[in-house]
Amino acid sequence: MTLDITQYARVRHAAKAYDPTRKVPAAQIEQLRAMLRFAPSSVNLQPWHFVVASTDAGKARIAKATHGIFAYNAPKILNASHVFLLCTRHTLTDAHIDAIVEQEARDGRLPTPDAKKIRRETLLSYADMHRYTFRDPQAWMEKQTYIALGFLLLSAAELELDATPIEGFDNVVLDNELGLRERGLVSSALVPVGYHGADDFNANVPKSRFPAEALFTDI
Ligand SMILES: Cc1cc2nc3c(=O)[nH]c(=O)nc-3n(C[C@H](O)[C@H](O)[C@H](O)COP(=O)(O)O)c2cc1C
Repeated sequence: MTLDITQYARVRHAAKAYDPTRKVPAAQIEQLRAMLRFAPSSVNLQPWHFVVASTDAGKARIAKATHGIFAYNAPKILNASHVFLLCTRHTLTDAHIDAIVEQEARDGRLPTPDAKKIRRETLLSYADMHRYTFRDPQAWMEKQTYIALGFLLLSAAELELDATPIEGFDNVVLDNELGLRERGLVSSALVPVGYHGADDFNANVPKSRFPAEALFTDI
């Protein structure tokens, strides 16, 4: 039987409440980690880092960033089985470009010194375009992190897990709590993963999207 891939998008939903008693098997968490690691990024930039909270203590640290207007997101973070924090590099450095080139060489993609040199020049030309022409390296890097976010959400659905993309948190509080600034990182998005609870109001309401005619232009 051919798999109808649209089912994953139609059935998944942003879980609004989690069952705190259920834990995601370690093997599935490993698969989610692999999906993040193998997510594509422009010029293979991989400008991300991922923090995975599996303990109550770890989740409580993350929940510190859900004060005030973000308080509605705290129970999701505390009750989900695991919480993924997707971080983005703060600065686009030449050292990071060098690290990409070295990794690609180790992985067998740059067999000659010349290939390595050309690859480095290409990467630097893109980096310079964003640093000096568009002056948007942070925004450019964070776009890549959101591709990883999409990979994570669809992968969770395929594994029949619930997940919630969350931008509603105080990123400065979280960056400080986890010492991200010292590591050259900023927090971009949170994703609790687990099994929705009986009180998840979003589990049983119809999905709402603009009609296809409004979204597509065929030429
Ligand atoms: C980047 C992003 C940030 C979001 N932030 C939050 C959030 O802070 N809290 C929350 O409950 N839902 C959040 N959502 C969930 C959206 O409201 C939800 O995905 C949207 O209404 C579509 O519904 P569905 O995911 O159930 O199909 C976020 C979604 C995305 C993609």
